[in-house]
Amino acid sequence: MNKPSLEQRTVVVTGATSGLGLACARVLARTPGWTVVVAARRPDGAAASLGAVPLALDLADLTSVRAFAATLADAGLPPLAGVVANAGIQYRDRRHTTADGFEATFGTNHLGHFLLLQLLLPHLTGDGRIVVVASGTHKAQRIRNGGFPPPRWDDPRALAQPSDGSGQVAYATSKLANVMTVLELARRMASLRPGSRIAVHGFDPGLMPDTALDRDYSARAQRVYERVTPLLLRLPGVTTAAASGAQLATMITDPAYAGPGSRYVEVDRDGEPSATARDPQLAAELWAVSEELTAR
Ligand SMILES: NC(=O)c1ccc[n+]([C@@H]2O[C@H](COP(=O)([O-])OP(=O)(O)OC[C@H]3O[C@@H](n4cnc5c(N)ncnc54)[C@H](OP(=O)(O)O)[C@@H]3O)[C@@H](O)[C@H]2O)c1
Repeated sequence: MNKPSLEQRTVVVTGATSGLGLACARVLARTPGWTVVVAARRPDGAAASLGAVPLALDLADLTSVRAFAATLADAGLPPLAGVVANAGIQYRDRRHTTADGFEATFGTNHLGHFLLLQLLLPHLTGDGRIVVVASGTHKAQRIRNGGFPPPRWDDPRALAQPSDGSGQVAYATSKLANVMTVLELARRMASLRPGSRIAVHGFDPGLMPDTALDRDYSARAQRVYERVTPLLLRLPGVTTAAASGAQLATMITDPAYAGPGSRYVEVDRDGEPSATARDPQLAAELWAVSEELTAR
C-alpha cells in the first residue's frame, strides 16, 4: 500500500544563525515535511549547515523587511505554515539607530518584527502558527531576572526615538512590546484572518548564557559571563539554547500548540505575561503607532 504523501510546509525563523534561533531551526530542519527559511543578515553559512533556505533579512531596515517578504512570496517554497520571530539584539546604551532612524533595540526587536508579521500574515496557511520570542525581562521582577532592570513603558513614539538611556532598559521594554504584540495580534486575528485557526504564541526561553546576545558587551564582561555559566545553569529559569530551541520548535509543530488562540510559555510551561503586557489599551496604542512608524 502506498504511504500518504507527507504535507510540505515552510517555516521562517528570524535570527536562525546563532543561539536560540539556530537551535530551533536545527530541530525544525530535521522534522519531516518542513522547509526552514533562515532569515538573518548573513544567513548563508547557517542555512548551508542545516540544509535550509537562506534569505537575507535585516530587521533594522524596513526596506529589507519588505524585500524579504516579497522574495519569500515569489520563492516557490511550500505553503508558509510557521513564523518564528526570534531575532533580537541588546546594546549597552540607546545610541544605536536603525536605517529608518529608530532606536535600534526597539526598531529591531519590535518594529522590524511588527512589519514582518503584518506582511507575512496574509500568506500564512489557515492553520499556521506564529511564535514571538519574548523574555522574562519584560516583567518588573529584578531579583528573578538576576538584577536585570525592568522595562519602562512610555509613549511608543518616545520609545522609538529616545534621547539616551540604558540599553538594558531599552531591551526589557522592547521585549514588553513583543508580548503586547502577541496578545494584540491574537485579539485582532478574527478580523485580520477571519475563519482561520492561526495560533499566536509568546515564548520566554529563560536565561540562556550560551548564546551571543552579550555581543555588545566588553570582551572582559563576556569572559566573566562564560566562566560563571556552569554555575548559572544550576539556577531555576536558567537553561541552554538547545533545550529552549527544542521547546520553540515544538510550539510550531506539536498539535498541542495548534490554534486558534494564544499561549505564553515560560521556558517549558504555561505562564502569564505581566499586567502591563495584558493592558489592551496600551497594546492598541502600540499597534497604531507601530503601523504609523512602519508605513513610512
Ligand atoms: N540569551 C538569553 O538569555 C535570552 C533570554 C531571553 C530572551 N532571549 C531572546 O532570544 C532571542 C534570540 O537571542 P539569542 O540569545 O539566541 O542571541 P544571539 O545568539 O545573539 O542571536 C541573535 C540572532 O538575531 C539575529 N539578528 C540580530 N540583529 C538582526 C537584524 N538586524 N536583522 C536580522 N537578524 C538579526 C542574529 O543574526 P545576524 O547577526 O546573523 O543577523 C542572530 O541570529 C532574542 O529575541 C532574545 O531577546 C534571549
